[in-house]
Amino acid sequence: MSGPKLIVALDFADAAEALALARRLAPAHCRLKVGLELFTAAGPRLVGDLTEHGFEVFLDLKFHDIPNTVARACAQAAALGVWMLNVHALGGAEMLRAAREAVDRATRKPLLVAVTLLTSHGPETLAEIGVREEMDSQVERLALLAQAAGLDGVVCSPREAAALRRRFGPTFALVTPGIRPRGAAHDDQRRTLTPAEALAAGADYLVVGRPVTRAPDPAAALAAILREIGEV
Ligand code: C5P
Repeated sequence: MSGPKLIVALDFADAAEALALARRLAPAHCRLKVGLELFTAAGPRLVGDLTEHGFEVFLDLKFHDIPNTVARACAQAAALGVWMLNVHALGGAEMLRAAREAVDRATRKPLLVAVTLLTSHGPETLAEIGVREEMDSQVERLALLAQAAGLDGVVCSPREAAALRRRFGPTFALVTPGIRPRGAAHDDQRRTLTPAEALAAGADYLVVGRPVTRAPDPAAALAAILREIGEV
């Protein structure tokens, strides 16, 4: 898989803050992730602005709805010219296949990945929602569903990356949030690894938010991570 491995999560409340950070970063070093907060605030126009600055954008809206609605949302996301977009594997096989077909019809096809379990989830979260399986086997089950529907990969915790890499082979993209450089605050993330550990475990792309965006010097924090993973 080519291009920068690091994806910086632009979890900001408005376009101005997001663009101010983007200006301090380089498309050669990282991709950018636009999630629920920023997309709700700033919308497609911001995605266009980031793309114009030369960045490849991961649109992280985690679609999870009836198949027709998700397919139509995926078509709109693909039309924005994003590099990657995602849906929830919990939406089931029919929804995943509908997303796949919609993206395949797009002129420019983004990578389509499925969220397995959120990296903020722990075993008690599964118990709360009535899922009796262990975390690891539930993640594998959802990844299998995504692979069977023809998705390009999954979003998973770095702690699951090694097992998924063994099972799904080298071309199935593993995108891992829950990345924390040694000594960084864990915030609400539960299943974390350091950037170097996540890559060694088989992750293709590392999503890093607060350790960069909330750092006193975000560009320096990013540079330190790039050095850790040997990308500069
Ligand atoms: O700040 P932090 O590094 O924890 O940010 C992680 C980012 O990855 C957030 O934007 C979050 O929404 C996203 N994410 C996640 N877990 C997933 C999928 C996406 O934390 N399973």
